[in-house]
Formats: sequence, structure tokens, C-alpha cells
Amino acid sequence: MPVRPIIRLGHPALRTPAQPVSPERIRTDEIRQLVEDMVETMHAAPGVGLAAPQLGVELQIFVYACEGNEHHPDIPLHVVINPMITPHSRELVYDWEGCLSIPDLRGLVPRHPSVRVQGLDREGGRLDYIASGFEARIVQHEYDHLNGIVFLDRMRDLRSLGYTEEWSQYMEGEEGDDTAVG
Ligand code: NI
Repeated sequence: MPVRPIIRLGHPALRTPAQPVSPERIRTDEIRQLVEDMVETMHAAPGVGLAAPQLGVELQIFVYACEGNEHHPDIPLHVVINPMITPHSRELVYDWEGCLSIPDLRGLVPRHPSVRVQGLDREGGRLDYIASGFEARIVQHEYDHLNGIVFLDRMRDLRSLGYTEEWSQYMEGEEGDDTAVG
């Protein structure tokens, strides 16, 4: 089953901290299949990121990828397992986010403009890189999913919350230029 159903807010898995994946388990068929399904489900949604808890699987895995546009370059596919995220500064920038588990809503969310990402890749190899801009936003959104946090929890002012259709009509472009939907 390549594309799996995405669970929505209200399902307890979205509010449960995910478990780390042991290094031996990463190369198993079970995890390989899960990662493949996550990538297919993300593309089919479509979204720019997806965390395992959004498929009801309480494991510390997220994937993300995004085609470039006028605001940011291509972000190739990343598979991140057992991540640790460290912000570079206390600075926060606001931009729009949506979530595949909270369909049709958009809101302004403060995020760190640049973070260090450490973790393991799909082969169990070490990851250690800097994500900035739109990529940093996606990473922080997906990382939050592994801790039972959704973007609504991060909003400072719920008055920017709106439905996608109305948002495109009235609010798009008011702050940032991109919308991270994961
Ligand atoms: Ni999300």
C-alpha cells in the first residue's frame, strides 16, 4: 500500500511523542517500506513534508522535498530519522503554514530562520547539516510532529488563521512568500 491515509487532528497519534528508531531497525523492510510510503503519500497529498505520526506511526521519521519557485531553490528529498534540531539564534520569522493533518487551514507561524539538523538518513548514516529559510521552516514543522505539536500550537495570534480559499483571496503574500504545508 504505497499511499497511506493521513490522520487528522483529533487522532491521538498526533499528540503523542514519537519513539526513536533503533539503528538496526532502519534497514529493515518494515522501515524501508514505511519511508517509501511516506514519500509517495507526501507527493500525492500534495505537501512539502510529512512525519510518520501523520500516518499513525509513532516513530521519529520525517521526509520533505519541494520544487523550486521564485522564492526558494529546489529542496531535494530528505529522509530524517531520530532528528535533533538546534536553532542558530533566538531570532524568529513569520510565514504561512498549513498541515496535511489540519486540512484547508493556513496561519502565520514564527520559526527560526536557520537550524542545525542532526540525525540519521534512510541507510542509517549520520546527518549533520544546516537548513535555512523555507527548508528550516519545513524541518521545524515536521520535527514538531514528532513531539506531538502542530502549527496551531506555535501561532502567536490566531487571527491570521484562515481557510485556504479565503486565504488565497485576501491574505496570501501579506507576510512571507511561501506556504509550508506538511
Ligand atoms: Ni503538518
